[in-house]
Amino acid sequence: MLVFPVNIVKTNIKHLNLVGHDFDLEITEILDNIPSNRKLETANGEYSTTLRQYQDIINLDSLKKFNNYIRSTMMEFWKKIGYEESQIAIERSWINRFSKGSKLHSHAHGSTEMVMTYYHKIPDGSASIRFFNPFDNYTGMAPFINKSFTYSPKEGDLLAWPGFLWHEIDEQSVEGDRIAISMHVHQGSYCLADRWRRVS
Ligand SMILES: [Fe+2]
Repeated sequence: MLVFPVNIVKTNIKHLNLVGHDFDLEITEILDNIPSNRKLETANGEYSTTLRQYQDIINLDSLKKFNNYIRSTMMEFWKKIGYEESQIAIERSWINRFSKGSKLHSHAHGSTEMVMTYYHKIPDGSASIRFFNPFDNYTGMAPFINKSFTYSPKEGDLLAWPGFLWHEIDEQSVEGDRIAISMHVHQGSYCLADRWRRVS
């Protein structure tokens, strides 16, 4: 999707049935066991009420098929954005589960080269994602004059975008969980965050 002077990549892989019921069972247990001090909940909705689990979720047994497929898709995108020669590393992967009332305030993913999100469960009327034009404050960027771009994900969608692109998720206004799997992708030999973690 040509949105700003930056593209957001979209494909839909629902028909491949890569993520099955065993994943639902596995993550329900994981998410239900998050200690209450790790849940990001506020009453006024200013911050996320999303349940997140930061671990290498991509390595779950129930995601083996998905993991294999996603790495080859990732590599395709990776080459297209100009890294023909370098390998990829999934630096972090996690689940976001939005229940009714959840939202995610505006944020970006810093130095992450590529963010990928797979939309696993999207009940009808689920929250949209809104990306903000990184060049909004500059003139002379016509025809890219839109301040933002809003997309309503479909089940099975896979989106990829650069980490510097600010975005937010609207409030989930319907019953039923909206579940997404997200990943940070870096060059295999250059993972900035990971390098700095070694000396902390
Ligand atoms: Fe994000």
